[in-house]
Amino acid sequence: MPRLSIQNLTKQYASAKALDRVCFDVADGEFVTLLGPSGCGKSTTLFAIAGLDKPTGGVISLDDRVLFDGERGVFVSAEARNCGLVFQSYALWPHMTVRQNVAFPLQIRGVARKELNERVEQSLALVEMQALAERYPHELSGGQQQRVALARTLVYRPSLLLLDEPLSNLDAKLRLRARGWLKQLQTQLGLTTIFVTHDQTEALSLSDRIVVMDGGRIMQVGTPQEVYRDPATPFIADFIGGSNFLTARVVTVGEGLAHIALPDGQTLRVTAGPEVAAGEQVTIAVRPEAVCLARNGTFPDSNVNLLRGRIVEREFLGPRYLYAVSIANQLVRFETVETLSNDDTMITVPSDSCTVFAFRGAS
Ligand SMILES: Nc1ncnc2c1ncn2[C@@H]1O[C@H](COP(=O)(O)OP(=O)(O)OP(=O)(O)O)[C@@H](O)[C@H]1O
Ligand SMILES: [Mg+2]
Repeated sequence: MPRLSIQNLTKQYASAKALDRVCFDVADGEFVTLLGPSGCGKSTTLFAIAGLDKPTGGVISLDDRVLFDGERGVFVSAEARNCGLVFQSYALWPHMTVRQNVAFPLQIRGVARKELNERVEQSLALVEMQALAERYPHELSGGQQQRVALARTLVYRPSLLLLDEPLSNLDAKLRLRARGWLKQLQTQLGLTTIFVTHDQTEALSLSDRIVVMDGGRIMQVGTPQEVYRDPATPFIADFIGGSNFLTARVVTVGEGLAHIALPDGQTLRVTAGPEVAAGEQVTIAVRPEAVCLARNGTFPDSNVNLLRGRIVEREFLGPRYLYAVSIANQLVRFETVETLSNDDTMITVPSDSCTVFAFRGAS
């Protein structure tokens, strides 16, 4: 049985629908990430779970307790839900020391002094902030403040940990360190966690499962490997990991391969199931990392396609160059260490690294 179950969650504002029949489950101890572009409804979902915002419809249950049911008029207050929500801006109390910030949630819950002191020490130890316990927030770095915000949440043993872009205020290096540390802590405590981000790398590296959202709807739910390797839509193929898109027409289909023609007459073979039919226009998504420069003497076969194009853009990234090759007037981007001039070139694209979608028009 899932710990948290969200069914048909809807949030209608006067002008717009922020959530449209959102459904997903979270298992005990699972780390689930809500991933999607700005405005897709991530925070609205998190706030609805925490009880800080009232949805228009749907059902939210935690264990065997209904927290919200739009039809039956059930709404359990935020205090009674005991979810730990860490906001993007840590919102530490500036006039309190680290220790006082962490102790505060226990004071308002009326926890006795001895137990309070023990639990504050434990929480500070968990986030390795004992040494700085007497400092004020303005005397801490962003990463340290973030740890205190987490300690202040962990101290009251929340039934669910809800994290709304908690790492977004950190610089790139600190963010990477905080990511590893957060995952370790979550695993160690076995905390059921919902993490919100619009950073796909963060989502891929931290999550047991990812819920991809767009425009208030769920587009796909899966493990990081599933959403990366088998994206349900071109939007996901592009949003997670980035993709090149080629519009082409199916010539023949059979034995798990589709033979596809580009508008300039070049052809390629791609792995495709029975959902693809001859004559159809399709969009093929190709990961940049699957594209390579063709070596002299490379011949196309059923595993590898060879395509001719012209290099039209070059960007220096440090360790590599990023090139854009125009193939049948469509751009394919890829990286290589080699220095190439704006010229005709041959690239290879493995058949099994392409995902085929029904053509939905230019995006
Ligand atoms: N009070 C409001 N009135 C009307 N629309 C609102 C209100 N609050 C939020 N919205 C809209 O609801 C949608 C979802 O907002 P939400 O804050 O959940 O997005 P988000 O995915 O968290 O985005 P971000 O990554 O920018 O934080 C947005 O389109 C937003 O404009
Ligand atoms: Mg948000």
